[in-house]
Amino acid sequence: MNIAIGSDHAGYFAKETLKSYLEEKGYTVEDLGCFSEESVHYPVYGKAVAQAVSQGQAEKGILICGTGIGMSIVANKIPGIRAALCHDAFTAKASREHNDANILVMGARVLTPEQMKLILEVWLDSQFAGGRHSQRLEMIKELDDCRR
Ligand code: RB5
Repeated sequence: MNIAIGSDHAGYFAKETLKSYLEEKGYTVEDLGCFSEESVHYPVYGKAVAQAVSQGQAEKGILICGTGIGMSIVANKIPGIRAALCHDAFTAKASREHNDANILVMGARVLTPEQMKLILEVWLDSQFAGGRHSQRLEMIKELDDCRR
């Protein structure tokens, strides 16, 4: 699986940790920045990862900022993106099973890198459940269409 990853300065250390973790597990990871702990603007990186997923260059995306809130707001403005801000394994699993989330967002000032690895693993291992949730996704797609 091809995964796009991005962060701002607050999430840089966590991004590097998760990138190595994913590569060790055999995933192909496209790092869209940032590339140091120097202060940057999270919308730049949130947009880059969301567009990579929206345009099909990456199957899934991971975004990290301080709280995860800014990256979630940005990513969910891109059509086709269902970015889920997750703080634990339960929300990670539910975001895949119920929402078919295609971007996982986490806060580096909220979670430790070890907690993030666990959440990421659960998120990648969980599948969309379909059924009644499919109709709800169709309703979300309609919202994308009215923004175009
Ligand atoms: C950066 O200081 C911080 O605002 C950012 O990482 C994020 O938490 C925004 O939502």
